[in-house]
Amino acid sequence: MKRDFLTLCDFSPDEVRGTLDRAIALKRGADKSACPLIGKSIGLIFEKASTRTRISFEAGIYQLGGHPVYINSGETQLGRGETIADTARVLSSYLDGVVIRTFAHERIVEFAANAGMPVVNGLTDTHHPCQVLADMMTIKEKKGRLEGIRIAYIGDGNNVANSLIEAASMLGLELVLACPEGYEPDPFVLEKARERAKSEILILREPREAAGRADVIYTDVWVSMGEEKKSEEKKKRFRDFQINEALLACAKPDAIVMHCLPAHRGEEITSAVMDGPQSVVFQQAANRLHTGKAILEKLLAR
Ligand code: CP
Ligand code: NVA
Repeated sequence: MKRDFLTLCDFSPDEVRGTLDRAIALKRGADKSACPLIGKSIGLIFEKASTRTRISFEAGIYQLGGHPVYINSGETQLGRGETIADTARVLSSYLDGVVIRTFAHERIVEFAANAGMPVVNGLTDTHHPCQVLADMMTIKEKKGRLEGIRIAYIGDGNNVANSLIEAASMLGLELVLACPEGYEPDPFVLEKARERAKSEILILREPREAAGRADVIYTDVWVSMGEEKKSEEKKKRFRDFQINEALLACAKPDAIVMHCLPAHRGEEITSAVMDGPQSVVFQQAANRLHTGKAILEKLLAR
């Protein structure tokens, strides 16, 4: 039966750990000449902009011997009202798998339910599991382990925050989120994660309190794609949630700084911190290639 990767919870904790180990092996050059996707065409359907997700998957599919097919949904009949379900059924007869970036998470769930091929979530309004796999890989590389690592996530309770919550609950990381009131992560994701987690998952209001004892300080944009109308209001609301040198000083001295990118320098993170010695943001971005390949291998290789 085909499998999808719509949220991290579509994999068991052991499968997530296995995918991370495989990504690390691929990065070190394992099976370089193997072509597990040979003869396979993988669609990349994007309904929002992307640099990292689109290009790392395009390059990764090529490196695995497959053929990436980039699809700007606005140039297809999807943009003229053909249903998701019909599109999924039709594309399943041409393609072997698909990565989708879209708005409401329900759209990708509906696509996957009607597709006869594996579907990978390249970001929805509420989840970004591919990003968080690369984040976990980066933490493992920098800290040597995941269990017991304490992450302070400062900012919006968005798609990245939700996927981080799932990862923490599955892999035993502690996670403290500092969000302004009204901008908390998805309550359902939080409730399920707390049922599953042996480690602490906390929501606080004070960035400095969250940063205390943190091994990782993480942030993301204040205004996500699709929220442009809320831009002014959110920028005001999040003014005190910036990662700057003063906030970083509250964390452990060897804390690393993470951001899924793209960053809005001077808003959620200062350039001094982003370009400083504790920042691993470009390693995170680089790891998207290796984790993306490991996901595709798992779902699609014979
Ligand atoms: N982090 C991330 O998903 O980046 P893109 O929006 O550039 O794909
Ligand atoms: N939260 C951001 C992540 C971008 C990779 C967004 O959805 O725009």
